[in-house]
Amino acid sequence: MSTPRTVEVPASLAASYAGAFGDTGTAWIAALPALAASLLDRWELRRDGPPGSGEAALVLPVVRADGTRAVLRLQLPREETAAALIGLRTWNGAGMVRLLDHDPGSGTLLLERLGSRSLASVEDDDEAMRVLAGILRRLVSVPAPEGLRSLGDIAAGMLDEAPRAAGALADPAERRLLRGWASAVAELAGEPGDRMLHWDLHYDNVLAAEREPWLAIDPEPLAGDPGFDLWPALDSRWDDVVAKGGPSRVVRRRFDLLTEALGLDRERAAGWTLGRLLQNALWDIEDGSAALDPAAVAMAEALRGR
Ligand SMILES: Nc1ncnc2c1ncn2[C@@H]1O[C@H](COP(=O)(O)OP(=O)(O)O)[C@@H](O)[C@H]1O
Ligand SMILES: [Mg+2]
Repeated sequence: MSTPRTVEVPASLAASYAGAFGDTGTAWIAALPALAASLLDRWELRRDGPPGSGEAALVLPVVRADGTRAVLRLQLPREETAAALIGLRTWNGAGMVRLLDHDPGSGTLLLERLGSRSLASVEDDDEAMRVLAGILRRLVSVPAPEGLRSLGDIAAGMLDEAPRAAGALADPAERRLLRGWASAVAELAGEPGDRMLHWDLHYDNVLAAEREPWLAIDPEPLAGDPGFDLWPALDSRWDDVVAKGGPSRVVRRRFDLLTEALGLDRERAAGWTLGRLLQNALWDIEDGSAALDPAAVAMAEALRGR
């Protein structure tokens, strides 16, 4: 059966956009089939299977006129969209999916097609984490080019925000915890680093491939210290980690493996990871939350006892 010409937007993607962006999100989703159709035409692409999606992107498998398999990746343009383009160009396929073309108007990317299996399908956690660490090591070995957000600016913004955010937490123990994360960032903020970070390298963002066994997708690059890039890996398949009863044990094992593979100073890497917990918490508090995410509290505890 041939793939229909009109793009079906998965309900989960529509719900995610309505939740995250309200009317803007709903309007963007409504316009998505027409945008996809115009790009399929302009780039002479034939659809080749049902659409995929994550939280942010609609991903259409396609075949180019010359027979190459690719995917069309559509996403509401944000600051990170420009950063993703810089990252894809700078990494130029090394450890990362290749960029084939892009549409500046809509921020749509035409990417090399990778496999359907992600690292989340690799059950042995050491094996999955070793693959992720190997890719992350290559990605963060690249100096950041001009034009990316910097961890120095992000850290300064967080330190500005933290006192007020702490006041919004209901539990005094959680307020102390959040202030502690901010202190850890304050100690490191003077040396924010200059590598190109992926920012979101977790198991679902590493796909099986042909020209290399595994490649990364979905970068939201910034310039900074590689220690700030460990959290998505430490947090990967968290529900499983909790279900197996050992968040502390698993986090410490993953942290040891990652810091060893990347040759990172453990103290600094732990501090920057608390910085990621702070960044997430500040977003949650801005969205109206008055409590910390239990997973973040568990991870901070695991790092403290490492
Ligand atoms: N180059 C690709 N080849 C094959 N599948 C892809 C590719 N890029 C993305 N996908 C699929 O689409 C999903 C969403 O894409 P992703 O870039 O991770 O966006 P999101 O920000 O929504 O997570 C991925 O989890 C993967 O299943
Ligand atoms: Mg993704």
